[in-house]
Amino acid sequence: MRQSSLVVVAMRLPIDDSVAPDGACEWRRSPGGLVSALHPLLRNTPATWVGWAGGSGPAPSLPDVDGVHMHTVPLSLEDLRDHYEGFANATLWPLYHDAVEQPEHHRRWWEAYQRVNQRYAEATAEVAEPGAIVWVQDYHLQLVPGLLRALRPDLRIGYFLHVPFPPPELFMQLPRRAELLHGMLGADLVGFQRPQAAHNFAQLATKVLGVAATDRRIAVDDRVVRIGAFPVSIDTAEMSALAASAEVAERAERFRRDLGEPERVILSVDRMDYTKGIEQRLTAYSELLASGHVKVRDTVLVQVAVPSRERVGQYQILRERVEREVGRINGEFGRVGEPAIHYLTQPFDRAELAALYRVADVMAVTPLRDGMNLVAKEYVAARVDDTGALLLSEFAGAATELSQAYLVNPHDLEGLKQGLLSALQADPADVTTRMRAMREHLHRHDITAWARSYLSALDETGSLVDRLP
Ligand code: UDP
Ligand code: G6P
Repeated sequence: MRQSSLVVVAMRLPIDDSVAPDGACEWRRSPGGLVSALHPLLRNTPATWVGWAGGSGPAPSLPDVDGVHMHTVPLSLEDLRDHYEGFANATLWPLYHDAVEQPEHHRRWWEAYQRVNQRYAEATAEVAEPGAIVWVQDYHLQLVPGLLRALRPDLRIGYFLHVPFPPPELFMQLPRRAELLHGMLGADLVGFQRPQAAHNFAQLATKVLGVAATDRRIAVDDRVVRIGAFPVSIDTAEMSALAASAEVAERAERFRRDLGEPERVILSVDRMDYTKGIEQRLTAYSELLASGHVKVRDTVLVQVAVPSRERVGQYQILRERVEREVGRINGEFGRVGEPAIHYLTQPFDRAELAALYRVADVMAVTPLRDGMNLVAKEYVAARVDDTGALLLSEFAGAATELSQAYLVNPHDLEGLKQGLLSALQADPADVTTRMRAMREHLHRHDITAWARSYLSALDETGSLVDRLP
């Protein structure tokens, strides 16, 4: 068994087993912000990534990806139903996102969560070198730090939560809240996206476990666990260079022509998720069309909504509702050859996304709650000429850093409509001042800065940080 001095553990591997149109198996980049953040970071770093390859049954053996060794954890259909679709995505995900949909609680899901976390901990224990650094990711694997410490006390264990960590009054609803907190506290360092999340965690540790805690340190048994906020980011230089390339510029021109050369293009790019505020945004847009503040010939909305977690009931219902509403709006306000909304559900690759970002005069990122939202950061990185208005929800983690965006409360329909209009009609000088400030911030706080700050807090010897790009 190959062993590494750096092991990343995440529910998913960075590549996914998917079925090509001709029925053959093919590999594609896994969806979502976690993989977008970590995949480029680890490129050519000698490391092992422990995770699931997207299918069910025996683990396929994968080649190394960009120099990173892939160690697959096999999951059965039952594991996927009860751990991934159940406890992770129908209990924890809604609860951690302000319970905007009702979290469900089932004992069978909790048993699967424990079983699958144990399997990840065992797989990690096998591939970690003595004294290795292990970096556990996200809400699917909250028990892994504690389980792994029991198996391998020699390891230095970090845990990072990509999604929000809720306030005590929500977290306290979880029947197995003490076990979940204990699991995370198996780490040496627990990282969150925002300071408020670290504060919530410290409060809960005291309330539920009775331990001494501040927003920086928690005393557990004979150890001190450090906690803190480390806002995740993107490879800003890479996205800027991609967006500035001749191919992407040419693709962007074609997009604009295909859209009928409107005066203004509004873009939204989301996984089809009820946390992303897609329905609220459609309502706001539809009311602006109805009142005549926005006209189809002048303005188009491009909504990319990539299907996600399609076997979970709440996601199926959302997709049906969104598609019905898009159909209604296009039926009511579109014209022949001029839909009001260009609605796309196929996933776009990085170059195509960069071209879309270049075309968008306004980028509408209006989640009801989001850990970070990397799409907002990618848009800023892609606006190489300092133009473009970012309409951003106050409830996205990105709003803490991108405070020069046009900030909105997506629960406030009138505020959302006003925000969209302000962004559409903004003074170009104001737009440029805001965009320039956000771009400067992202050049300083990119994905490498994130990894350095997290790993230097975790890795006391500093030897690992020296190997990062
Ligand atoms: N993304 C993509 N193709 C698409 C839509 C999204 O590659 O068609 C990527 C996007 O560029 C971003 C990630 O998926 O890097 C979404 O991350 P975000 O943090 O915005 O949201 P999440 O999906 O993780 O909730
Ligand atoms: C969010 C989560 C990630 C997850 C991604 C895509 O970014 O924080 O852990 O991988 O969504 O969701 P999926 O269920 O397809 O992995």
